[in-house]
Formats: sequence, structure tokens, C-alpha cells
Amino acid sequence: MPLTQTKKIKILSVFGTRPEAIKMAPLVIGLKGHEEIESILCVSGQHREMLDQVLQAFDLEPDFDLDIMQPGQSLSDITSRVLLGLKPVLEQVKPDWVFVHGDTATTVAASLAAYYERIPVAHIEAGLRTHNIYAPWPEEVNRRIASLIASCHFSPTEKAKANLMTEGVLENNILVTGNTVIDALLAAIKKLDTSKVLQTEIDNQLPIIDTSKKLILVTGHRRENFGQGLENICKALLHLSTRDDVQIIYPVHLNPKVKNLVTARLSSRENIHLIDPLSYLPFIRLMSKAYIIITDSGGIQEEAPTLGVPVLVTRGTTERPEALDAGTVKLVGTDTAEITRQSEHLLESKSAYAKMSKANNPYGDGKTVMRIISHILRREGV
Ligand code: UD1
Ligand code: UDP
Repeated sequence: MPLTQTKKIKILSVFGTRPEAIKMAPLVIGLKGHEEIESILCVSGQHREMLDQVLQAFDLEPDFDLDIMQPGQSLSDITSRVLLGLKPVLEQVKPDWVFVHGDTATTVAASLAAYYERIPVAHIEAGLRTHNIYAPWPEEVNRRIASLIASCHFSPTEKAKANLMTEGVLENNILVTGNTVIDALLAAIKKLDTSKVLQTEIDNQLPIIDTSKKLILVTGHRRENFGQGLENICKALLHLSTRDDVQIIYPVHLNPKVKNLVTARLSSRENIHLIDPLSYLPFIRLMSKAYIIITDSGGIQEEAPTLGVPVLVTRGTTERPEALDAGTVKLVGTDTAEITRQSEHLLESKSAYAKMSKANNPYGDGKTVMRIISHILRREGV
């Protein structure tokens, strides 16, 4: 045994929702594999079932679970419960770094909690901006607060890095890494591609897909679309479902504001399959079978280009302009006529479809986790 043993770098990763978990899972797995690092995982439990699905899919066991979710929780509920719940965890663990991801209420509260304890924060997926504080709401401001606090910024793209530099973040503190979601996605695709048994097992969990029809996959949950926006999207889906050549599958988010409205409007349609949220592998399998995706999700905008599936985004603006520039994603807002028109255009025009289904992903190459870990080790002088 050497007289002096090198101290490990203690990293506490904190997340709480489905997308954060999917995007942080490859990183948490990567951190565990480094003997210079002690990796500790704290989940806020901002989501419960949808978080647990991801933890199970990636075989992750949290060291701490704040278990804060309440039905119909408000933004203040989440923020205050995470802030209060994390304090004793930070006092006990005394990490060298707190890693947070993206733009959720857990992200912002965990960043603040770490800041109050004067613990440095590394922000993964840093620098995305719409420059409109109400779209997405409250995620745009959550990201900006995390950027103010973080001393290390892992940006997925050059555009995200440029946003941070415009706000005065020093270039030395930003690293363009790609997005960890592509690490997760490529690992999932590899798993699926190498096992016919797994494919069959997963296909048995999905609704029966009529291969003579074009599959439209739908998701939606943005707070700014609650009410009229979601009503309009449902009307467009009702209209599209009357076509003989399409089949619609919609894994419905568990938020009651989404679930109640979507179930009331769409559940009686034979050609619309409303299902519970899917675990990651089945969802990726379903995405790969889709002809078009209609969604307001951020992560899906990043994943779909790898699968060559066009995405119609039911939002007026996006903090992910790269896929718009690449032509695989189009903003359609929440106007019923526009969603219907753009969907029908893709269903009917082979050339329009071909243009949007080019498989070319601006968000990463599957090596993001490796870049983040190498950077932290270098920064800590290892
Ligand atoms: C949150 C994030 C959003 C992210 C989205 C991903 C914030 C402010 N919002 O929004 O950025 O894009 O997650 O899905 O952080 N619920 C359950 N079980 C679950 C998950 C949710 O029952 O597993 C229900 C609960 O009633 C909960 C409600 O959904 O109160 C809303 O969850 P919340 O995390 O507040 O908002 P999301 O819309 O999911
Ligand atoms: N996803 C999933 N099951 C589903 C729907 C989505 O695993 O039923 C995955 C999807 O592949 C993506 C992430 O969840 O990685 C997106 O999460 P969400 O839409 O909830 O949040 P956002 O990305 O908008 O923050």
C-alpha cells in the first residue's frame, strides 16, 4: 500500500426527469468506470414512474432519492423541495463537483443548492437558447440560471457555445462535446441491432403495427402548449386519423394536464393508439418504425435525425436550430391547419419526404461522455 493515496475526484450527478435521466445515464455509467473518480448519484424524483423506467433500463441505482414528485406539482413545489432536499446530501457527500443537465426545475434547483454550498457546478447540454423567456417556459430561464452558476459548460454544438460566449462565459470554461443523448441512442440501436430475440420481445410490448400504413408517432408535454395548443394538436390528429394510409401511435405523458385532455379527445378513435410512456428501448424501436414524428419534445428532435425520421415540431421556436438547418426538423407550431397541411405534404410528396428524411445528425457522434470525462480529469490535473 503506497504511503500517500491519490484522492479521488468526487462527482455528484443530480437529475430528476425522464430526459435528464436518459441523457445522464451514459455519463453516470462512464464515471463509474474511472478509478480516479468517485461517482455518486442523487435523483430528485421530480418524475417518478417515468424516471424509474429509465433507471431500470440503464441499470442505475441512485445513492440518494429525494422522492419529491407530487401529482400536479407546481414549479415552486419542485424547486423548493429539491433545494431543501439536496442540502443535507451536499453536506454529507461534500462533492468536488455537482453535475447537472439541461433545463428542468431539478437542474436549476440543484445548481442553486450547490452554489449555496460553494460547490462548483458542471452543466451538461449548456448554451441552448431561444432568447424568449416564455418559450420554452420555464426551461429557457432554467438554462440561463444554470449557465450563470456553472464553472464548466459542456455544450452540444458550436452554436450553443457561441450563445454562452455572447453572454460573457469565458471560452476556456466551455467545451463543445456533442450531446450525450446520441451516446444513449447509439448504444440502444446497437443493442437492438444485435439481438433478434430482443427485437421480438420489444415488438410484443408495442401496439400491433399495420405495415401497410404509414406510422405517425406523437408525443407532447410542453407547459406552454397546455390548453388551446394541445386542443389544436388533437384536432389535427383527429383529421389525420381519418386517412386510410396512416396509423397514429401516441405514448401519452403522465402529466394530468396532458393525459386528461388527450384521453378525452382521442381515446375513442380506432386509428389512434394512446399508450402509456414507453421505456427507452421500445421507444427507440417505435421511432425507427415511424414515418413521421409529431412532437414538442427536445430530446426527440435530437434523436430522430439519426433514424432518418422527419420531425414536425409543435412549437413556435426551438433552442435546437441545428436540425432545422440540416432540414430534418420543421417547426409547425400549434395551429391545427398548419400541422395537418405539413403532415399531409410529407405523406403525399415523395420528394419533400426524401429531403427531410436524410440521416445526418448534427448533435453528436456517440463520444460525448468520453470528452466530458477526459476534460474533467484534465481540469483536475489527473
Ligand atoms: C418536466 C420538465 C420539462 C421536461 C419534461 C420531460 C420542468 C419545469 N419541466 O416537465 O422541462 O421537458 O419534464 O418530460 O422541469 N407525472 C407522473 N409521473 C411521472 C412524471 C410526471 O405522474 O413519472 C405527473 C405528475 O402529476 C407531475 C406532473 O406529471 O406532477 C408534471 O411533472 P413535471 O415534472 O412537473 O412536469 P413535466 O411536464 O413532466
Ligand atoms: N421517450 C421515451 N419514452 C416515451 C417517449 C419518449 O423513452 O414514451 C424518450 C425519448 O426517446 C427522448 C426523451 O424520452 O430521449 C424525451 O423526453 P421528453 O419528451 O419527456 O422530454 P424533453 O426531451 O422534451 O425534455
